[in-house]
Amino acid sequence: MDTALVIGGTRFIGRHLVDDLLEHGYDVTIFNRGTHDNPFETDDRVSHVAGDRTNDSALEAAAMTVDPDAVFDCVAYHPKDVRAATRIFADCEAYVYVSSGAAYGREEIPKREGETPLESCTAEQATDDSSDTYGNRKAEGDRAVAAAAEQGINAMSVRPPIVYGPHDYTERLDWWIDRVNRFDRVLVPGDGTNVRHRVYVEDVASALRIVAERGEAGEAYNVGDRRLTTLEEMVDLIAAQLDTDVKVVHAGPHELAAGEIELEDFRLYRSYPHVLSTAKLAALGWESTPLEEAMGRAVDDHLESDRDGSEYGPERDAEERVLGILETL
Ligand SMILES: NC(=O)c1ccc[n+]([C@@H]2O[C@H](COP(=O)([O-])OP(=O)(O)OC[C@H]3O[C@@H](n4cnc5c(N)ncnc54)[C@H](OP(=O)(O)O)[C@@H]3O)[C@@H](O)[C@H]2O)c1
Repeated sequence: MDTALVIGGTRFIGRHLVDDLLEHGYDVTIFNRGTHDNPFETDDRVSHVAGDRTNDSALEAAAMTVDPDAVFDCVAYHPKDVRAATRIFADCEAYVYVSSGAAYGREEIPKREGETPLESCTAEQATDDSSDTYGNRKAEGDRAVAAAAEQGINAMSVRPPIVYGPHDYTERLDWWIDRVNRFDRVLVPGDGTNVRHRVYVEDVASALRIVAERGEAGEAYNVGDRRLTTLEEMVDLIAAQLDTDVKVVHAGPHELAAGEIELEDFRLYRSYPHVLSTAKLAALGWESTPLEEAMGRAVDDHLESDRDGSEYGPERDAEERVLGILETL
């Protein structure tokens, strides 16, 4: 495989995927609407085709002009998007759909491909746009990939949990980095042992390429940091990268009530542990970046950016109220 078409490609996962593909010798074309700045604007190794992926004719035109060996679909939010792309790119050597760990429909540890049931998806959910049906729609996309493979199309899925790293516009990790960077005391919801699988963005990019090159048609592959951290270990890891010390203060629902905060208000907190088995992907030769290195790059990028996550987590004065009460106990 020599040529790749990345649907998306300018913002987060797709942007890192383009870098990874270039490093591995691919000729890359990105397909997007052009509403986000193109970081590859002046890079003559990356061609740009403008279009909206929800418009099948635009995708068909891209298929004709680019004729890629591999297609990476970073913008499929509805099952119909996956059905259209697998039809349009049926003759390509590989089609890889970026699904999500949210596609899993049962809580178990770990969640395994082909074993843990996926979310169901009604016709109504399939065309919905709300975040409530995100997992349902992603799961139906996975089923569309499997159905395409039955028609002889080399289509595959990759399921990441929450992704972090440079250019993460969601600011989920930025909120935590900001807390550790600016304050001596960091409020951690619960007892600090909460586990929610995350994945470093460059490892998602390499997973997508490796699955295109070596994956099996119709299969889904989880991707996630090989070594997971609890929420408190994550705070410690951030502190180590910032070369600082913080005092972690635990607060349960009763203590948090003093600041009118709930456990779930903290980004990256999840009451039931979310853990994806990554053995199937590792068997293809995929490797995970060591945590310190991954967090180091995330922290460096945070410090260079103006992201602080402030719109996405509890406000500091609410936290201070909780910390104040805990100090008097
Ligand atoms: N981020 C995570 O934590 C996470 C976790 C699990 C799974 N995922 C999945 O990973 C995929 C990529 O996520 P991301 O966070 O990296 O996305 P993202 O950065 O928001 O992707 C945006 C990219 O897609 C392009 N785009 C958006 N709408 C488009 C359209 N209608 N037609 C053509 N191009 C379009 C954008 O360019 P223009 O706006 O210029 O068109 C941009 O290049 C998604 O499928 C998501 O469900 C993400």
